Amino acid sequence: MLKNPIIPASGTCGFGMEMSEWMDLNHLGAIATKGTTRDARYGNPLPRIAECGASGLINAVGLQNPGVDEVIRHEMPALRKIYQGPIIANVSGFNVEDYAYVCQRIDQETDAAILEVNISCPNVHNGGMAFGTTPEAAAEVTRAVKAVTRKPVYMKLSPNVTDITAIARACVEAGADGLCLINTVLGMRIDIRRRKAIVANRYGGYSGPGIFPIALRMVNQVHQACPKTPIIGCGGVGSAEDVIEMMMAGANAVEIGAANLQNPQVCRQIIDRLPKLMNELHIEHLQDIIGIV
Ligand SMILES: Cc1cc2nc3c(=O)[nH]c(=O)nc-3n(C[C@H](O)[C@H](O)[C@H](O)COP(=O)(O)O)c2cc1C
Repeated sequence: MLKNPIIPASGTCGFGMEMSEWMDLNHLGAIATKGTTRDARYGNPLPRIAECGASGLINAVGLQNPGVDEVIRHEMPALRKIYQGPIIANVSGFNVEDYAYVCQRIDQETDAAILEVNISCPNVHNGGMAFGTTPEAAAEVTRAVKAVTRKPVYMKLSPNVTDITAIARACVEAGADGLCLINTVLGMRIDIRRRKAIVANRYGGYSGPGIFPIALRMVNQVHQACPKTPIIGCGGVGSAEDVIEMMMAGANAVEIGAANLQNPQVCRQIIDRLPKLMNELHIEHLQDIIGIV
């Protein structure tokens, strides 16, 4: 049980350091750390970001991270010095063995509360999203990770599929303790003067306010398909109103991504505003509104 449902989403708060300049991290419900892989990764070539005005942005960072050794040795202990709440360790891989290896290391060598397994990264080739686009592959990663940890495993799902409920069910049947959705929507922007894609990777992951209705619909579908499974709702959330909407759709907690990049204080502002908004809407406990629509 989190003290509030607000969690900065993986990739938008690093390992907490940058965000700690803007707020006391201990106010957060939890923190989802940057996607960690077996080896260090420098990510994709620049440019990696295409702004999309008020609708959000496209990113093609490509899982830049220092690798699991460094995350365990340096990043997690540094985060622990300034933050005592639950850590959601986000993990990525390029094959099933990588996922299991990184999860086992994090399980044994950190005090992370939850493993969030990203089978939905659209920005890397040969891996990432490939595992989140068929029920069989999603189930295989889930089983492999569950076999090496006793920590709760949340599978992070891709919206770039025809039927997200089939993937969600496969993960749950394979033992997932919870689900996180959605990751970014595959997108593209073109610089019409240079006649080239804006991000060097050509395509990237679209996130921010423009994907909120998609995320909401998918959270609602998955909540109906897997009513007993806890869901972390994510995608386009930028206000306390969005949080309530996401919870009414079926989310137990909410991750906030792109909005942090525009306003690094947004999580704190939402946490401050939530009690007043609940009062206005005659909501006594957030628990009471989960999945009511
Ligand atoms: C710059 C950037 C980096 C991201 N890196 C990761 C990552 O490492 N692992 C992951 O699971 N999701 C990653 N995401 C996806 C977000 O966690 C989130 O699922 C997605 O952006 C949708 O939420 P939003 O619309 O609130 O941004 C990243 C998103 C952005 C914008």
